[in-house]
Amino acid sequence: INIIKVNSEQQFNETGAGIIASLLQSNPRAILGLATGGTPVGVYQKLVELYREGVVSFKQASSYNLDEYVGLPENHPESYRRFMNEKLFDHIDIPIENTHVPSGNSEKAAEEYTRLLEKAGQIDLQLLGVGHNGHIGFNEPNENLHGPTHIVELDELTRQANARYFSSIEEVPTHAVTMGIGTILQAKQILLMAKGADKAEIVAKALKGPITTQCPASLLQTHANVVVVLDQAAGGLL
Ligand code: F6R
Repeated sequence: INIIKVNSEQQFNETGAGIIASLLQSNPRAILGLATGGTPVGVYQKLVELYREGVVSFKQASSYNLDEYVGLPENHPESYRRFMNEKLFDHIDIPIENTHVPSGNSEKAAEEYTRLLEKAGQIDLQLLGVGHNGHIGFNEPNENLHGPTHIVELDELTRQANARYFSSIEEVPTHAVTMGIGTILQAKQILLMAKGADKAEIVAKALKGPITTQCPASLLQTHANVVVVLDQAAGGLL
């Protein structure tokens, strides 16, 4: 595991965006696995800048997002489809039909997304954030984890963390559809990003603690090509 500690928010975003941009420069048809949440927002902003400067193009790229809430309409302000359109896709040259976010409104969504991912082949680079409980995607700590895309019940901690985007915790969906651990670990390269002191403990557990389904991010220790980008605070316990 290659750990990069950066000194500022700007460096954090530039480093993440830089890794994605160099992949696209060497492989314009790259298949990107993308994440939502607070962590990648600045990375996406930086990618938009790089696109505007002509440094990078997404014209032939395609993307698969990790997860989506169950039960929110696609145009709900907090749906992950809308998040991705607003933060990234609307501002770059990726054909929108090349972008994929699982549907949170179809009973067959998990199966369909699994099939779609199988057809797409290997993801070249999977961007990940990490939850305070060690979740990646919405694979919550559990006795058993699932390989393919599936529906999960969100942990209370996850709903609390994400309540900041909703007007009350009651409005945070109870379930989500998420890419499974199997698919995530099949990516050629994984880029895990975390910032802030509140992530320090889980980052240390994930990268240095025992490999256990009770900390899904610890399974990244089994992957041969992981890059971790941390700010000083999130890397504080390493
Ligand atoms: C988002 C996702 C989640 C987040 C994690 C961290 O698509 O899959 O695993 O990456 O909850 O969220 P933030 O970045 O908001 O701290």
